[in-house]
Amino acid sequence: MPEDRPPLAGRRVAVIGAGYVGLPTALALDRFGHSVMICDRDDERLSHLRRGLSPILETGLEELLGEALHRGQFRTTPRAAEAVVGAEFVFLCVDTPPAKDGSADLSFITAVAEEIAPHLERGAVVVNKSTVPLGTAELVEGLIGRGDVDVVSNPEFLREGSAVANSLRPDRIVVGAKDLTVAQRVAALFEQTGSPVVLTDRRSSELIKYAANAFLATKLSFVNSLASMCEAVGADARDLARGIGYDRRIGPDFLQPGPGWGGACLPKDATALVAMAAAAGVEVDVVRAALSSNDSQRDRVVEKIRVAAGGDLRDHTVAVLGLTFKSNTDDRRNSPATAITRKLIERGARVRAHDPTVKAAGEAPPDLQQVTVCEDPYEALAGAEVVVILTEWPLFRELDYRAVRDLVARPVVVDTRNLLDGDLLRSLGFTYFGAGH
Ligand code: UGA
Repeated sequence: MPEDRPPLAGRRVAVIGAGYVGLPTALALDRFGHSVMICDRDDERLSHLRRGLSPILETGLEELLGEALHRGQFRTTPRAAEAVVGAEFVFLCVDTPPAKDGSADLSFITAVAEEIAPHLERGAVVVNKSTVPLGTAELVEGLIGRGDVDVVSNPEFLREGSAVANSLRPDRIVVGAKDLTVAQRVAALFEQTGSPVVLTDRRSSELIKYAANAFLATKLSFVNSLASMCEAVGADARDLARGIGYDRRIGPDFLQPGPGWGGACLPKDATALVAMAAAAGVEVDVVRAALSSNDSQRDRVVEKIRVAAGGDLRDHTVAVLGLTFKSNTDDRRNSPATAITRKLIERGARVRAHDPTVKAAGEAPPDLQQVTVCEDPYEALAGAEVVVILTEWPLFRELDYRAVRDLVARPVVVDTRNLLDGDLLRSLGFTYFGAGH
Protein backbone atom coordinates (compact mmCIF):
# COMPACT_ATOMS: atom_id res chain seq x y z
CA MET A 1 0.00 0.00 0.00
CA PRO A 2 1.46 3.44 -0.90
CA GLU A 3 2.75 5.39 2.13
CA ASP A 4 0.81 8.56 1.27
CA ARG A 5 -2.53 6.80 1.18
CA PRO A 6 -3.67 5.94 4.70
CA PRO A 7 -5.73 2.78 4.89
CA LEU A 8 -9.41 3.11 5.36
CA ALA A 9 -9.82 2.63 9.10
CA GLY A 10 -11.87 3.84 12.00
CA ARG A 11 -15.21 2.38 10.90
CA ARG A 12 -17.63 1.33 13.62
CA VAL A 13 -18.32 -2.38 13.36
CA ALA A 14 -20.48 -4.81 15.32
CA VAL A 15 -19.81 -8.55 15.16
CA ILE A 16 -22.58 -10.84 16.36
CA GLY A 17 -21.23 -14.23 17.44
CA ALA A 18 -17.83 -14.83 19.07
CA GLY A 19 -17.14 -18.31 17.70
CA TYR A 20 -14.75 -19.78 15.15
CA VAL A 21 -15.78 -17.21 12.54
CA GLY A 22 -16.82 -14.18 14.60
CA LEU A 23 -13.87 -13.92 16.92
CA PRO A 24 -11.02 -14.03 14.37
CA THR A 25 -13.05 -11.71 12.12
CA ALA A 26 -13.65 -9.21 14.92
CA LEU A 27 -10.01 -9.24 15.98
CA ALA A 28 -8.80 -8.84 12.42
CA LEU A 29 -11.13 -5.86 11.93
CA ASP A 30 -9.78 -4.39 15.17
CA ARG A 31 -6.22 -4.86 13.92
CA PHE A 32 -7.19 -3.05 10.69
CA GLY A 33 -8.02 -0.06 12.85
CA HIS A 34 -11.80 -0.29 13.10
CA SER A 35 -13.65 0.05 16.35
CA VAL A 36 -15.31 -3.26 17.10
CA MET A 37 -18.11 -4.30 19.43
CA ILE A 38 -18.42 -8.08 19.64
CA CYS A 39 -21.61 -9.68 20.91
CA ASP A 40 -22.24 -13.18 22.18
CA ARG A 41 -25.10 -14.36 24.34
CA ASP A 42 -22.65 -16.59 26.25
CA ASP A 43 -21.59 -14.29 29.10
CA GLU A 44 -18.82 -16.59 30.26
CA ARG A 45 -17.25 -16.46 26.80
CA LEU A 46 -17.30 -12.67 26.95
CA SER A 47 -15.78 -12.51 30.40
CA HIS A 48 -13.00 -14.82 29.16
CA LEU A 49 -12.42 -12.42 26.27
CA ARG A 50 -12.27 -9.39 28.55
CA ARG A 51 -9.58 -11.17 30.57
CA GLY A 52 -7.61 -11.83 27.39
CA LEU A 53 -8.40 -15.55 27.27
CA SER A 54 -9.43 -17.15 24.00
CA PRO A 55 -12.45 -19.47 24.32
CA ILE A 56 -11.22 -21.48 21.30
CA LEU A 57 -7.89 -23.08 20.48
CA GLU A 58 -6.43 -21.02 17.63
CA THR A 59 -2.78 -20.24 16.98
CA GLY A 60 -2.12 -16.55 17.61
CA LEU A 61 -5.65 -15.70 18.72
CA GLU A 62 -4.76 -14.82 22.29
CA GLU A 63 -1.92 -12.56 21.14
CA LEU A 64 -4.28 -10.76 18.78
CA LEU A 65 -6.85 -10.46 21.56
CA GLY A 66 -4.19 -9.06 23.91
CA GLU A 67 -3.26 -6.42 21.34
CA ALA A 68 -6.92 -5.52 20.78
CA LEU A 69 -7.55 -5.12 24.53
CA HIS A 70 -4.40 -3.01 24.79
CA ARG A 71 -5.54 -0.67 21.99
CA GLY A 72 -8.85 -0.28 23.82
CA GLN A 73 -11.24 -0.12 20.82
CA PHE A 74 -12.50 -3.67 21.30
CA ARG A 75 -15.66 -3.97 23.37
CA THR A 76 -18.07 -6.77 24.27
CA THR A 77 -21.77 -7.09 25.01
CA PRO A 78 -24.20 -9.99 25.44
CA ARG A 79 -27.03 -8.03 23.74
CA ALA A 80 -27.21 -7.83 19.95
CA ALA A 81 -29.60 -4.86 20.13
CA GLU A 82 -26.95 -2.95 22.09
CA ALA A 83 -24.06 -4.02 19.84
CA VAL A 84 -25.59 -2.51 16.70
CA VAL A 85 -26.19 0.95 18.14
CA GLY A 86 -23.80 3.30 16.34
CA ALA A 87 -22.49 0.54 14.07
CA GLU A 88 -22.08 1.25 10.36
CA PHE A 89 -21.47 -2.44 9.60
CA VAL A 90 -23.01 -5.41 11.43
CA PHE A 91 -21.41 -8.81 10.78
CA LEU A 92 -23.61 -11.82 11.43
CA CYS A 93 -21.29 -14.65 12.50
CA VAL A 94 -23.73 -16.85 14.38
CA ASP A 95 -23.85 -20.60 14.15
CA THR A 96 -25.93 -22.25 11.41
CA PRO A 97 -25.76 -25.89 12.56
CA PRO A 98 -27.18 -28.68 10.40
CA ALA A 99 -30.80 -29.45 11.27
CA LYS A 100 -32.00 -33.08 11.53
CA ASP A 101 -32.72 -33.24 7.78
CA GLY A 102 -29.23 -31.91 6.94
CA SER A 103 -30.42 -28.43 5.93
CA ALA A 104 -28.91 -25.43 7.73
CA ASP A 105 -30.74 -24.41 10.89
CA LEU A 106 -31.16 -20.67 10.47
CA SER A 107 -32.97 -20.04 13.74
CA PHE A 108 -30.04 -18.12 15.30
CA ILE A 109 -29.61 -15.87 12.31
CA THR A 110 -33.32 -15.13 11.95
CA ALA A 111 -33.65 -14.42 15.68
CA VAL A 112 -30.73 -11.98 15.55
CA ALA A 113 -32.09 -10.28 12.43
CA GLU A 114 -35.43 -9.71 14.13
CA GLU A 115 -33.78 -8.54 17.34
CA ILE A 116 -31.49 -5.98 15.74
CA ALA A 117 -33.90 -4.67 13.08
CA PRO A 118 -35.37 -1.78 15.08
CA HIS A 119 -32.00 -0.77 16.55
CA LEU A 120 -29.90 -0.56 13.36
CA GLU A 121 -28.58 2.86 12.40
CA ARG A 122 -29.91 4.53 9.24
CA GLY A 123 -27.81 3.32 6.29
CA ALA A 124 -26.24 0.44 8.24
CA VAL A 125 -24.97 -2.55 6.26
CA VAL A 126 -25.72 -6.03 7.59
CA VAL A 127 -23.06 -8.51 6.47
CA ASN A 128 -23.79 -12.26 6.42
CA LYS A 129 -20.55 -14.02 7.22
CA SER A 130 -22.08 -17.24 8.55
CA THR A 131 -22.29 -20.02 5.97
CA VAL A 132 -25.89 -19.77 4.87
CA PRO A 133 -28.00 -21.33 2.12
CA LEU A 134 -28.70 -19.55 -1.13
CA GLY A 135 -31.24 -16.81 -0.67
CA THR A 136 -30.45 -16.09 3.00
CA ALA A 137 -29.40 -12.50 2.30
CA GLU A 138 -32.85 -11.94 0.82
CA LEU A 139 -34.45 -13.70 3.78
CA VAL A 140 -32.57 -11.52 6.28
CA GLU A 141 -33.43 -8.43 4.29
CA GLY A 142 -37.10 -9.38 4.54
CA LEU A 143 -36.86 -9.97 8.28
CA ILE A 144 -35.15 -6.65 8.86
CA GLY A 145 -37.71 -5.00 6.62
CA ARG A 146 -36.01 -1.61 6.36
CA GLY A 147 -35.43 0.15 3.07
CA ASP A 148 -32.52 2.12 4.56
CA VAL A 149 -30.50 -0.96 5.53
CA ASP A 150 -28.53 -3.12 3.05
CA VAL A 151 -27.89 -6.82 3.52
CA VAL A 152 -24.80 -8.28 1.83
CA SER A 153 -23.03 -11.64 1.71
CA ASN A 154 -19.34 -11.87 2.65
CA PRO A 155 -18.44 -15.55 3.09
CA GLU A 156 -15.58 -16.62 5.32
CA PHE A 157 -12.90 -19.01 4.10
CA LEU A 158 -10.76 -19.37 7.21
CA ARG A 159 -9.47 -22.76 8.28
CA GLU A 160 -9.55 -23.94 11.85
CA GLY A 161 -6.04 -23.86 13.26
CA SER A 162 -4.93 -21.05 10.96
CA ALA A 163 -7.93 -18.76 11.45
CA VAL A 164 -5.84 -15.79 12.55
CA ALA A 165 -3.46 -15.94 9.59
CA ASN A 166 -6.39 -16.51 7.22
CA SER A 167 -8.30 -13.53 8.66
CA LEU A 168 -5.34 -11.16 8.48
CA ARG A 169 -4.26 -12.33 5.01
CA PRO A 170 -7.16 -14.02 3.25
CA ASP A 171 -6.64 -15.54 -0.22
CA ARG A 172 -9.51 -13.35 -1.40
CA ILE A 173 -12.40 -11.22 -0.20
CA VAL A 174 -15.79 -12.02 -1.70
CA VAL A 175 -18.68 -9.58 -1.29
CA GLY A 176 -22.10 -10.06 -2.84
CA ALA A 177 -24.50 -7.13 -2.79
CA LYS A 178 -27.47 -5.68 -4.67
CA ASP A 179 -25.61 -2.41 -5.04
CA LEU A 180 -21.96 -2.24 -6.16
CA THR A 181 -21.09 0.78 -4.00
CA VAL A 182 -22.27 -1.05 -0.88
CA ALA A 183 -20.13 -4.07 -1.83
CA GLN A 184 -17.15 -1.74 -2.29
CA ARG A 185 -17.71 -0.18 1.15
CA VAL A 186 -17.66 -3.63 2.77
CA ALA A 187 -14.58 -4.71 0.81
CA ALA A 188 -12.84 -1.48 1.88
CA LEU A 189 -12.99 -2.63 5.52
CA PHE A 190 -10.43 -5.27 4.55
CA GLU A 191 -8.29 -3.03 2.34
CA GLN A 192 -5.23 -3.55 4.54
CA THR A 193 -5.12 -7.24 3.70
CA GLY A 194 -4.13 -6.41 0.13
CA SER A 195 -6.11 -9.49 -0.91
CA PRO A 196 -7.84 -9.81 -4.28
CA VAL A 197 -11.48 -8.75 -4.15
CA VAL A 198 -14.41 -10.41 -5.91
CA LEU A 199 -17.52 -8.26 -6.03
CA THR A 200 -20.68 -9.97 -7.18
CA ASP A 201 -24.38 -10.44 -6.56
CA ARG A 202 -25.63 -12.02 -3.33
CA ARG A 203 -26.54 -15.48 -4.64
CA SER A 204 -23.22 -15.93 -6.42
CA SER A 205 -21.40 -14.92 -3.26
CA GLU A 206 -23.39 -17.41 -1.18
CA LEU A 207 -22.74 -20.14 -3.74
CA ILE A 208 -18.99 -19.39 -3.88
CA LYS A 209 -18.69 -20.52 -0.27
CA TYR A 210 -20.34 -23.88 -0.93
CA ALA A 211 -18.48 -24.34 -4.20
CA ALA A 212 -15.10 -23.76 -2.52
CA ASN A 213 -15.69 -26.32 0.22
CA ALA A 214 -17.30 -28.85 -2.13
CA PHE A 215 -14.37 -28.49 -4.53
CA LEU A 216 -11.85 -29.10 -1.72
CA ALA A 217 -13.87 -32.12 -0.58
CA THR A 218 -13.90 -33.51 -4.11
CA LYS A 219 -10.17 -32.93 -4.47
CA LEU A 220 -9.54 -34.86 -1.25
CA SER A 221 -11.79 -37.77 -2.19
CA PHE A 222 -9.92 -37.98 -5.49
CA VAL A 223 -6.60 -38.00 -3.62
CA ASN A 224 -7.76 -40.68 -1.17
CA SER A 225 -9.06 -42.90 -3.98
CA LEU A 226 -5.83 -42.50 -5.90
CA ALA A 227 -3.86 -43.32 -2.73
CA SER A 228 -5.76 -46.64 -2.50
CA MET A 229 -4.99 -47.23 -6.15
CA CYS A 230 -1.30 -46.51 -5.49
CA GLU A 231 -1.29 -49.16 -2.78
CA ALA A 232 -2.96 -51.66 -5.11
CA VAL A 233 -0.65 -51.12 -8.09
CA GLY A 234 2.63 -50.47 -6.25
CA ALA A 235 2.82 -46.71 -6.91
CA ASP A 236 3.57 -43.94 -4.38
CA ALA A 237 0.90 -41.32 -3.56
CA ARG A 238 3.52 -38.91 -2.16
CA ASP A 239 5.31 -38.72 -5.49
CA LEU A 240 1.97 -38.61 -7.26
CA ALA A 241 1.05 -35.51 -5.22
CA ARG A 242 4.29 -33.80 -6.23
CA GLY A 243 3.98 -34.96 -9.79
CA ILE A 244 0.54 -33.46 -10.26
CA GLY A 245 0.87 -30.61 -7.72
CA TYR A 246 3.50 -28.74 -9.74
CA ASP A 247 0.89 -28.33 -12.43
CA ARG A 248 -0.40 -24.84 -11.60
CA ARG A 249 -3.88 -25.79 -12.73
CA ILE A 250 -3.95 -28.46 -9.99
CA GLY A 251 -1.84 -26.81 -7.27
CA PRO A 252 0.22 -28.40 -4.48
CA ASP A 253 -2.23 -27.95 -1.58
CA PHE A 254 -4.86 -30.40 -0.37
CA LEU A 255 -3.13 -33.39 -1.92
CA GLN A 256 -2.31 -35.25 1.31
CA PRO A 257 -4.13 -38.57 1.68
CA GLY A 258 -5.73 -39.15 5.06
CA PRO A 259 -8.37 -41.16 6.92
CA GLY A 260 -11.09 -39.15 5.13
CA TRP A 261 -11.99 -35.48 5.31
CA GLY A 262 -14.10 -34.13 8.14
CA GLY A 263 -14.72 -31.17 10.40
CA ALA A 264 -17.67 -28.89 10.81
CA CYS A 265 -17.58 -27.49 7.27
CA LEU A 266 -16.54 -29.69 4.34
CA PRO A 267 -19.05 -32.52 4.97
CA LYS A 268 -21.88 -30.11 5.83
CA ASP A 269 -21.28 -27.82 2.86
CA ALA A 270 -20.72 -30.60 0.30
CA THR A 271 -23.98 -32.22 1.45
CA ALA A 272 -25.81 -28.90 1.34
CA LEU A 273 -24.52 -28.12 -2.15
CA VAL A 274 -25.86 -31.42 -3.49
CA ALA A 275 -29.22 -30.77 -1.80
CA MET A 276 -29.49 -27.16 -3.01
CA ALA A 277 -28.61 -28.20 -6.56
CA ALA A 278 -31.19 -31.01 -6.46
CA ALA A 279 -33.81 -28.53 -5.25
CA ALA A 280 -32.98 -26.45 -8.33
CA GLY A 281 -33.29 -29.54 -10.55
CA VAL A 282 -29.55 -30.02 -11.04
CA GLU A 283 -27.61 -33.20 -10.25
CA VAL A 284 -24.05 -32.44 -9.04
CA ASP A 285 -23.11 -36.09 -9.04
CA VAL A 286 -19.38 -35.46 -8.81
CA VAL A 287 -19.83 -34.03 -5.28
CA ARG A 288 -22.29 -36.80 -4.39
CA ALA A 289 -19.58 -39.29 -5.38
CA ALA A 290 -17.00 -37.41 -3.29
CA LEU A 291 -19.27 -37.75 -0.26
CA SER A 292 -19.86 -41.46 -0.68
CA SER A 293 -16.18 -42.05 -1.40
CA ASN A 294 -15.42 -40.29 1.89
CA ASP A 295 -17.75 -42.66 3.77
CA SER A 296 -16.00 -45.62 2.18
CA GLN A 297 -12.61 -44.16 3.06
CA ARG A 298 -13.28 -44.70 6.76
CA ASP A 299 -14.13 -48.36 6.08
CA ARG A 300 -11.05 -48.72 3.91
CA VAL A 301 -8.93 -47.52 6.85
CA VAL A 302 -10.64 -49.91 9.28
CA GLU A 303 -10.01 -52.74 6.81
CA LYS A 304 -6.35 -51.79 6.61
CA ILE A 305 -6.11 -51.85 10.40
CA ARG A 306 -7.84 -55.26 10.49
CA VAL A 307 -5.28 -56.68 8.06
CA ALA A 308 -2.42 -55.09 10.00
CA ALA A 309 -3.81 -56.64 13.20
CA GLY A 310 -3.42 -60.07 11.62
CA GLY A 311 -6.93 -60.53 10.21
CA ASP A 312 -9.22 -59.97 13.18
CA LEU A 313 -9.89 -56.97 15.39
CA ARG A 314 -11.89 -58.76 18.08
CA ASP A 315 -10.11 -58.56 21.45
CA HIS A 316 -7.08 -56.98 19.83
CA THR A 317 -5.59 -53.86 21.38
CA VAL A 318 -5.35 -50.90 19.04
CA ALA A 319 -3.54 -47.70 20.05
CA VAL A 320 -5.14 -44.71 18.35
CA LEU A 321 -3.07 -41.53 18.10
CA GLY A 322 -5.25 -38.51 17.35
CA LEU A 323 -8.99 -37.97 17.70
CA THR A 324 -9.53 -34.46 16.31
CA PHE A 325 -10.45 -34.03 12.63
CA LYS A 326 -7.03 -32.51 11.94
CA SER A 327 -4.14 -31.16 14.01
CA ASN A 328 -3.98 -27.73 15.69
CA THR A 329 -7.61 -27.78 16.73
CA ASP A 330 -9.57 -29.31 19.59
CA ASP A 331 -12.52 -29.89 17.26
CA ARG A 332 -13.85 -33.43 16.92
CA ARG A 333 -17.01 -32.55 14.97
CA ASN A 334 -17.36 -35.03 12.12
CA SER A 335 -13.85 -36.24 12.85
CA PRO A 336 -12.79 -39.25 10.73
CA ALA A 337 -10.43 -40.16 13.61
CA THR A 338 -13.28 -40.41 16.08
CA ALA A 339 -15.54 -42.20 13.56
CA ILE A 340 -12.83 -44.78 12.83
CA THR A 341 -12.23 -45.25 16.55
CA ARG A 342 -15.92 -46.03 17.02
CA LYS A 343 -15.87 -48.50 14.13
CA LEU A 344 -12.89 -50.27 15.73
CA ILE A 345 -14.86 -50.60 18.97
CA GLU A 346 -17.86 -51.98 17.03
CA ARG A 347 -15.57 -54.59 15.52
CA GLY A 348 -14.60 -55.71 19.02
CA ALA A 349 -11.20 -54.02 19.32
CA ARG A 350 -9.93 -52.66 22.63
CA VAL A 351 -8.95 -49.07 21.88
CA ARG A 352 -6.48 -47.01 23.86
CA ALA A 353 -6.30 -43.45 22.54
CA HIS A 354 -4.33 -40.27 23.00
CA ASP A 355 -5.02 -36.82 21.65
CA PRO A 356 -3.33 -33.72 23.06
CA THR A 357 -6.68 -31.94 23.28
CA VAL A 358 -8.78 -34.72 24.83
CA LYS A 359 -8.57 -34.99 28.60
CA ALA A 360 -8.55 -38.41 30.23
CA ALA A 361 -9.65 -37.12 33.60
CA GLY A 362 -13.33 -36.94 34.48
CA GLU A 363 -16.05 -38.48 32.42
CA ALA A 364 -15.11 -39.54 28.90
CA PRO A 365 -17.04 -37.70 26.15
CA PRO A 366 -20.22 -39.70 25.30
CA ASP A 367 -18.92 -40.82 21.90
CA LEU A 368 -15.72 -42.18 23.46
CA GLN A 369 -17.30 -44.09 26.33
CA GLN A 370 -15.68 -47.43 25.48
CA VAL A 371 -12.28 -45.98 24.65
CA THR A 372 -9.47 -45.85 27.18
CA VAL A 373 -8.35 -42.25 26.79
CA CYS A 374 -4.78 -41.78 28.04
CA GLU A 375 -3.23 -38.43 28.81
CA ASP A 376 0.22 -39.69 27.92
CA PRO A 377 0.86 -41.05 24.41
CA TYR A 378 3.22 -43.72 25.73
CA GLU A 379 0.51 -44.93 28.09
CA ALA A 380 -1.85 -45.34 25.12
CA LEU A 381 0.80 -47.33 23.26
CA ALA A 382 1.48 -49.83 26.05
CA GLY A 383 0.52 -53.35 24.96
CA ALA A 384 -0.79 -52.26 21.53
CA GLU A 385 -0.98 -54.85 18.77
CA VAL A 386 -1.44 -52.12 16.15
CA VAL A 387 -0.62 -48.42 16.40
CA VAL A 388 -2.75 -46.15 14.22
CA ILE A 389 -1.96 -42.50 13.43
CA LEU A 390 -5.26 -40.76 12.66
CA THR A 391 -4.45 -37.06 13.22
CA GLU A 392 -1.23 -35.41 12.05
CA TRP A 393 -0.19 -33.90 15.41
CA PRO A 394 3.57 -33.14 15.13
CA LEU A 395 4.16 -34.58 18.61
CA PHE A 396 3.46 -38.08 17.26
CA ARG A 397 6.45 -37.71 14.95
CA GLU A 398 8.66 -36.78 17.87
CA LEU A 399 7.93 -39.86 20.00
CA ASP A 400 10.88 -42.09 20.87
CA TYR A 401 10.05 -45.04 18.60
CA ARG A 402 12.83 -47.16 20.06
CA ALA A 403 11.01 -46.88 23.40
CA VAL A 404 7.67 -47.38 21.66
CA ARG A 405 8.90 -50.65 20.13
CA ASP A 406 9.61 -51.97 23.63
CA LEU A 407 6.20 -50.82 24.89
CA VAL A 408 3.93 -52.33 22.24
CA ALA A 409 2.90 -55.99 22.04
CA ARG A 410 3.48 -56.06 18.24
CA PRO A 411 5.51 -53.40 16.37
CA VAL A 412 2.94 -52.58 13.67
CA VAL A 413 2.04 -49.04 12.61
CA VAL A 414 -0.75 -47.87 10.29
CA ASP A 415 0.02 -44.24 9.44
CA THR A 416 -3.06 -42.83 7.69
CA ARG A 417 -1.44 -39.38 7.39
CA ASN A 418 2.08 -40.24 6.18
CA LEU A 419 3.27 -38.41 9.28
CA LEU A 420 6.08 -40.72 10.35
CA ASP A 421 9.38 -41.67 8.77
CA GLY A 422 8.55 -45.15 7.50
CA ASP A 423 12.19 -46.04 6.75
CA LEU A 424 13.23 -45.17 10.29
CA LEU A 425 10.41 -47.25 11.74
CA ARG A 426 11.26 -50.21 9.53
CA SER A 427 14.91 -49.96 10.59
CA LEU A 428 13.70 -50.19 14.19
CA GLY A 429 11.84 -53.39 13.41
CA PHE A 430 8.33 -52.05 12.85
CA THR A 431 6.00 -53.20 10.12
CA TYR A 432 4.91 -49.86 8.68
CA PHE A 433 1.85 -49.17 6.50
CA GLY A 434 1.79 -45.65 5.03
CA ALA A 435 -1.02 -43.98 3.08
CA GLY A 436 -0.80 -44.62 -0.62
CA HIS A 437 2.57 -46.36 -0.71
C1 UGA B 1 -12.53 -25.70 5.66
C2 UGA B 1 -11.97 -24.92 4.47
O1 UGA B 1 -10.64 -25.33 4.19
C3 UGA B 1 -11.97 -23.41 4.78
O2 UGA B 1 -11.54 -22.68 3.64
C4 UGA B 1 -13.39 -22.99 5.14
O3 UGA B 1 -13.48 -21.62 5.46
C5 UGA B 1 -13.85 -23.78 6.34
O4 UGA B 1 -13.82 -25.19 6.00
C6 UGA B 1 -15.25 -23.34 6.69
O5 UGA B 1 -16.15 -23.50 5.85
O6 UGA B 1 -15.45 -22.77 7.74
P1 UGA B 1 -11.56 -26.55 8.01
O7 UGA B 1 -12.91 -27.12 8.30
O8 UGA B 1 -10.86 -25.81 9.08
O9 UGA B 1 -11.63 -25.54 6.75
O10 UGA B 1 -10.70 -27.78 7.55
P2 UGA B 1 -9.57 -28.05 6.44
O11 UGA B 1 -8.27 -27.54 6.87
O12 UGA B 1 -10.07 -27.61 5.12
O13 UGA B 1 -9.53 -29.65 6.47
C7 UGA B 1 -10.69 -30.40 6.16
C8 UGA B 1 -10.39 -31.87 6.21
O14 UGA B 1 -9.56 -32.25 5.12
C9 UGA B 1 -9.69 -32.33 7.47
O15 UGA B 1 -10.27 -33.54 7.91
C10 UGA B 1 -8.26 -32.53 7.00
O16 UGA B 1 -7.55 -33.46 7.78
C11 UGA B 1 -8.48 -33.02 5.59
N1 UGA B 1 -7.30 -32.82 4.69
C12 UGA B 1 -6.92 -31.56 4.35
C13 UGA B 1 -6.64 -33.93 4.19
O17 UGA B 1 -7.00 -35.09 4.49
N2 UGA B 1 -5.60 -33.73 3.33
C14 UGA B 1 -5.18 -32.49 2.97
O18 UGA B 1 -4.23 -32.38 2.15
C15 UGA B 1 -5.86 -31.37 3.48
